[in-house]
Amino acid sequence: MELFNLDDYERAAQEMLPPEIYDYYAGGANDEITVQANGAAYGRIRLLYRVLRDVSQRSLATEILGQPLSLPILIAPTAFHRLAHPQGEIATARAAAAAGTIMIVSMVATTAIEEIAAANAASAKAPPLWFQVYVLPDRDFTVTLVRRAEAAGCRALVLTVDSPIFGRRERDMRHHFHELPPGLSLANFTPSGTTTPPKFDFKADLTWADVAWLRTLTDLPLLLKGIVHPDDVRLAWEHGANGLIVSNHGGRQLDTAVSTIEILPEIAAAANGRMPILVDGGIRRGTDVLKALALGADAVAIGRPVLWGLAVGGESGVYDVLDNLRRELDSALALCGCANLDEVGPELLRF
Ligand SMILES: Cc1cc2nc3c(=O)[nH]c(=O)nc-3n(C[C@H](O)[C@H](O)[C@H](O)COP(=O)(O)O)c2cc1C
Repeated sequence: MELFNLDDYERAAQEMLPPEIYDYYAGGANDEITVQANGAAYGRIRLLYRVLRDVSQRSLATEILGQPLSLPILIAPTAFHRLAHPQGEIATARAAAAAGTIMIVSMVATTAIEEIAAANAASAKAPPLWFQVYVLPDRDFTVTLVRRAEAAGCRALVLTVDSPIFGRRERDMRHHFHELPPGLSLANFTPSGTTTPPKFDFKADLTWADVAWLRTLTDLPLLLKGIVHPDDVRLAWEHGANGLIVSNHGGRQLDTAVSTIEILPEIAAAANGRMPILVDGGIRRGTDVLKALALGADAVAIGRPVLWGLAVGGESGVYDVLDNLRRELDSALALCGCANLDEVGPELLRF
């Protein structure tokens, strides 16, 4: 089967993965209205392209928090990469390095952060990793994990704030998929020297005070992931956030939540250039990336497509997914009459 776009990767992955694993990756909360809406909202935005501009020399290069990237597409943090491929997060980290972008490593990885960092750093041109955390009820555990991420060379911390409790995912309920298969573990939960990880439970009493606490814990830039309300942008700024990821967790938490591209312009307006804005959810085409940038994002992140690439071909599959999107974005840029990302603005869009 020839794979021409990210949806092809999904179909190919679906054929290869056990149904409970495909459904765990693909699924969302309740009726999956937000899962659908994230992607569908991009289709409603039309491109108002310019012509007769010299687009023979193009660049997709950008910079986020002082870190140069070869393309404005990061890898969103997703759990359990070894469910997709035996090399799991190691393969993803190598692909991110080869593509010249940042992998945001999930705290709920099936490989220890030190091993992922070693795989990433093996490539000289690799941008450093970022590390995603949930603050758990056991704060000491978070402290240990942040120290491990710092020591491993991670260059930013991403606190996911949309998960005070688990989303309600009916596909997982139907498969009774509540545990990792034998041989896989939450590798970052096993402190060295012990074999019993602490119980993984979200912190339902998480508040802005926890953000302030995390801010004092580390000098790393801190991004908040899961922001969709413009009023939360000011609070994020006041509590020391250095960046935001506009996200509804790929529709896996609150169903019927607003689609991210729909709310992005309001978030960007509230941030008013004070901090970088990333967006994720439903980005499957180069034109989607271009629209997100036009509406005020500094970069985007993709979640599920990386898992599809991983399932289909490990490291090279993830690389191909990123490269596919890179080529689509390059083509969209040229056809819109832009030579680089600075030329992409809201004047290219009609609703
Ligand atoms: C299987 C899966 C696992 C995820 N695990 C995490 C996680 O551990 N931490 C987190 O912050 N977000 C997690 N997310 C959300 C992603 O970071 C991201 O917000 C979402 O996948 C973006 O939507 P997309 O998949 O449509 O690109 C997960 C998403 C999926 C699909």
